[in-house]
Amino acid sequence: MPNDLISHSSPAAMPLTGARPKAPLSGTIRVPGDKSISHRALMLGALAVGRTEISGLLEGEDVLATAAAMRAMGASIERLAEGRWQVDGVGIGGLAEPADVLDLGNSGTAARLLLGVLATHPFTSFVTGDASLRSRPMRRVTDPLSRFGARFTTREGGRLPLAVSGAVNPVPVEYTLPVPSAQVKSAVLLAGLNTPGETTVIEPQATRDHTERMLGHFGATLRVAPAEGGGKRITVVGQPELIAAPIVVPADISSAAFAIVAGLVVPGSEITIEGVGLNPSRTGLLASLAEMGADIAYLNERVEGGEPVADLRVRAGALHGAEIPPERAPSMIDEYPVLGVAAACAKGRTVMRGLAELRVKESDRLAGMAAGLAACGVKVSVEGDDLIIDGDGNPPAGNAMIETRLDHRIAMAFLVMGLAAKSPVQVDDARPIATSFPGFVPLMNRLGAGFAEIV
Ligand code: S3P
Repeated sequence: MPNDLISHSSPAAMPLTGARPKAPLSGTIRVPGDKSISHRALMLGALAVGRTEISGLLEGEDVLATAAAMRAMGASIERLAEGRWQVDGVGIGGLAEPADVLDLGNSGTAARLLLGVLATHPFTSFVTGDASLRSRPMRRVTDPLSRFGARFTTREGGRLPLAVSGAVNPVPVEYTLPVPSAQVKSAVLLAGLNTPGETTVIEPQATRDHTERMLGHFGATLRVAPAEGGGKRITVVGQPELIAAPIVVPADISSAAFAIVAGLVVPGSEITIEGVGLNPSRTGLLASLAEMGADIAYLNERVEGGEPVADLRVRAGALHGAEIPPERAPSMIDEYPVLGVAAACAKGRTVMRGLAELRVKESDRLAGMAAGLAACGVKVSVEGDDLIIDGDGNPPAGNAMIETRLDHRIAMAFLVMGLAAKSPVQVDDARPIATSFPGFVPLMNRLGAGFAEIV
């Protein structure tokens, strides 16, 4: 199919090494589009009436899995040029039963948000993913979605593969999030779209709000009010007509994070990352790094496609330890692996509190970070859900081989560790990086990182 992007990942594992570069990192880059916004653009575009034009779409494997799933249910999705896509929607309730299993690869966001959509479409579909996704908990969405009247048959422990039969006569739901998860919030709101009446999610702790912003952008009626006892009540009025609207996807701060930390920990570096999305529900990493003494300047601050963005100029310098409070976790949930690298290079103790959700990401990231940091000679411990890292302000030893465990962010974080460490750090398989950050290696190498395949 001319519109499809073919995955070029090789069948064999791809080990990669990060080693101290001979010169400081320097230059200006733009990282790919925001993953969260890209998934939502394709899903809501497919549910809208008319043609949605998207620019800056992330063309990573996770997002391509969402595109394939929406196509399999009748939406017409075309790639016009790099990052430029158009979606002809079928309208809310207009999706058709897919003829085959929907395989969402490594993507928890694709799986959980789509289950929300499927829960109120009256047909049966089958959903699966790779070994990582098949090990991740789905009850957090199947429980609230069952309340709409959807039926799920899952593997032991509520895991994929699963079958979902969407409710024929869905009933609206009011649901309080038991975990601070934008994926769960979004699944419930998306199910509410094809449900008469009002669906409400109560969010005690703020999580990323891209679904709400984009629903508003497409003309849905959404009310956000303070909840009793703190947090927000988010209500969507069911069965709106979503009207196609252009979407500009900002650069993903979760991808920029790797370049930012690399720029901070390679002595003498000065780099700029352009057009980084700075939605306040996503900027916990920048707050944490600022507390650690990082030199990051926000240049050319502006609003693009309804999201605040800026060019970030990063200068290397000494970092010190900090206390990262648990309430900051949702705003930097994907950034802990690379913050761990910054903390390992900093002087003093960094305590990251309230990391329970890291155990159910693409891998158990709390365990993976602790094991990887220890292998690199870093003083690290896990106490309950907290991670404690003691740095002495000198580069960690490195000289380690890190198991990626199908986790893109563990792979990228430890490659960045290799740039700072005394001896190189290898990751056993860099292929998962293509799920969120295609072009990571050449882009970082343009700054002078020198990531190299092991031969
Ligand atoms: C995402 C939400 C986060 C994040 C994930 C993307 C989203 O997950 O880890 O990478 O797009 O809604 P949770 O909301 O489950 O924490």
